[in-house]
Amino acid sequence: MRIVALVTQKGGSGKSTLAASIAVEMQARGETVFLVDMDPQRSLATWARGRSDRRLAGAAVGPERLDDVLATLRARAVTLSVIDTPANLSPATDAAILAADLILVPVRPTAFDLWAAEATWRRVRDLGRDCAFVLNQCPTLQVSRRVRTGIEALDAMGAVLSPPVTARVDYQDAMSRGLGPSEVDPAGEASREIRLLCRAIRRRIDDSCAGRSRGQQSAAVQAGPPR
Ligand SMILES: Nc1ncnc2c1ncn2[C@@H]1O[C@H](COP(=O)(O)OP(=O)(O)O)[C@@H](O)[C@H]1O
Ligand SMILES: [Mg+2]
Repeated sequence: MRIVALVTQKGGSGKSTLAASIAVEMQARGETVFLVDMDPQRSLATWARGRSDRRLAGAAVGPERLDDVLATLRARAVTLSVIDTPANLSPATDAAILAADLILVPVRPTAFDLWAAEATWRRVRDLGRDCAFVLNQCPTLQVSRRVRTGIEALDAMGAVLSPPVTARVDYQDAMSRGLGPSEVDPAGEASREIRLLCRAIRRRIDDSCAGRSRGQQSAAVQAGPPR
């Protein structure tokens, strides 16, 4: 099972919206997806309850239960867990960071979000992990100077996944109806960008899992044979 966590200490950056959109798209690509909602606001769990398609299950989970819940999901052949987190650095956020194969930090192209992204990145690094950024709610008409400045600032800290996600009513409509953008308008632009984003996420998870298993193998070699 692979685990993606949406993390940033800034509220409103799009963690829950992206978690839901990514989950729907990944399920459509054949993954068995489970939603882990660690935010006391329960946006993701509420969205999931509004879905008529019951295959996308989820649960509200506190940090003390996360490892047990993930172990159960592994045993139940879930292939992808998507974790949504609160808008602060907290035990829940730390637990998600430590559990995830890929930590995604959504960032709007604004100064406040960029500062919050940097603080989140520092926490991720302090915990010995790495993250990738997703620009969200970008202006639709062109890659504005603000988006370019955002990409440059984030590039200095880590990978910025492509494409940037634009501000579109399709996302808001989808969330209010318990849907993903591809279920609102399969041929729409929001659908297209989430499809491309999920491709980038898959590549990134594959790289990160390969890197982690190489790291574990070399740690095992350094530790020598079991006594
Ligand atoms: N790409 C987007 N386009 C338009 N609205 C968006 C987009 N992403 C998020 N939103 C809206 O922004 C608000 C905050 O998003 P949300 O996912 O709740 O953020 P967070 O979970 O980080 O607090 C919500 O009203 C949501 O509908
Ligand atoms: Mg949220």
